[in-house]
Amino acid sequence: MRKSADNLAILGLQWGDEGKGKLVDLLSANFKHVVRFQGGNNAGHTVVVNGESIALHQVPSGALHPGCFLVVGSGVVLNLEVFHTELERLRKRGIEVLGRLMLSSSAHIILPYHIAMDNWRESGSVRIGTTGRGIGPAYEMKAARLGVRLGDISSPNALARISMVHKEASRIIGDHESLPSPEEVHRNLNSLILPLQKCIGDAQGHLFNAWRNGDPILFEGAQATMLDIDHGTYPFVTSSNCSIGGLFTGTGLPPKSLGKVLGVAKAYTTRVGVGPFPSELNDLVGEHIRQTGREFGTTTGRPRRCGWLDAVVLRNSCNINGVDGIGIMKLDVLDGLDRIGIVKAYKDKATGKRMARIPAATHNWESVEPITEYFEGWSKPTKGARSWKDLPTQAQKYLNAIEEAIETKIVYVSTGPDREDGLSAPRSWAKKWIG
Ligand code: IMP
Repeated sequence: MRKSADNLAILGLQWGDEGKGKLVDLLSANFKHVVRFQGGNNAGHTVVVNGESIALHQVPSGALHPGCFLVVGSGVVLNLEVFHTELERLRKRGIEVLGRLMLSSSAHIILPYHIAMDNWRESGSVRIGTTGRGIGPAYEMKAARLGVRLGDISSPNALARISMVHKEASRIIGDHESLPSPEEVHRNLNSLILPLQKCIGDAQGHLFNAWRNGDPILFEGAQATMLDIDHGTYPFVTSSNCSIGGLFTGTGLPPKSLGKVLGVAKAYTTRVGVGPFPSELNDLVGEHIRQTGREFGTTTGRPRRCGWLDAVVLRNSCNINGVDGIGIMKLDVLDGLDRIGIVKAYKDKATGKRMARIPAATHNWESVEPITEYFEGWSKPTKGARSWKDLPTQAQKYLNAIEEAIETKIVYVSTGPDREDGLSAPRSWAKKWIG
């Protein structure tokens, strides 16, 4: 019996690193299947259990719950070497996922050629500030129909397909000597894929059956709406659809299979890499947030740019994804600040006009400046708060102001890295899952 109401998507609403991993980990116990549907090892989800953190890049964050079946959909691009490293890291903590894992045979493989192309492009004059993991070129080759999929490796054509990518990468980079030979890549892939062979299959069929049987499904977004190739700050974006549309193309499930959408945002904003960021704080407050929030990339270790919460961005992302409720993460990072800002709108520097929406064209981002409203900080810390009434009045006011500015209800607030640090908002629909 189909039960879409029990299926939930968790999506990032800013520029990534919102803390989706914590929410997925927290909620996974309620779900039978946890699904990744886009992105690759550019993602880095840190989950903290008993003070110990585990970084996952490609394995769905539901891995830590033995009852969860893990699915990697066709929209994901996979680096098999990294995937094995993660499986090994989990094994060392006593977690084995091989018996409860399905990788779509249609998911594309990130080849060494993609990584070489990514780094070659980044060393040129047009920098995006990518993670250097070959994500863009892997999706690019997928669209060019030159990709190599998981299901291809066992076929007699595998070497020929790898050779096509090698040829294309050599043509672009102009130096094939620095690239590994197709034979070497083929050999390596064969040995990497061997232990996973039983896990590779029809992920779409698997998920369709799960939906038909009424098994609850959790969809785990990677990156975030502002990095979406269509709806983000193009060209400073990743190469997949990280917003709601990517869930359907990346799994093959229909929109009616989804019950609710939980959007995730930090209580402030961060971004890594190049690109517009109107609420950025290039001052001591920005540095304080970076240090207190440990805002350094999980995947690359790069310092993240930090700024106030941008309600224009959040409203836009809520609209695109049809967000039913929002999780506000890392509220405790703002503890101790005298005042806290919310960017309510932008001002067009050229015309002086107030803008309630994000600019449509890339170059227009350069002419916006933030209109910031300030709120009183709180002296009693929020760190570790586990109920709404534990929050200082000023923090409650700040959260209420966010809700009002983005016209979306907050359903969960995180107040620290541990699973237990946080609260679901009073009367929230998410209580059923979060408790
Ligand atoms: P790529 O996805 O490696 O091609 O990088 C494109 C842009 O997306 C860069 O600005 C990256 O910093 C950013 N990006 C990619 N993945 C993540 C993520 O998981 N969190 C935050 N930013 C990301």
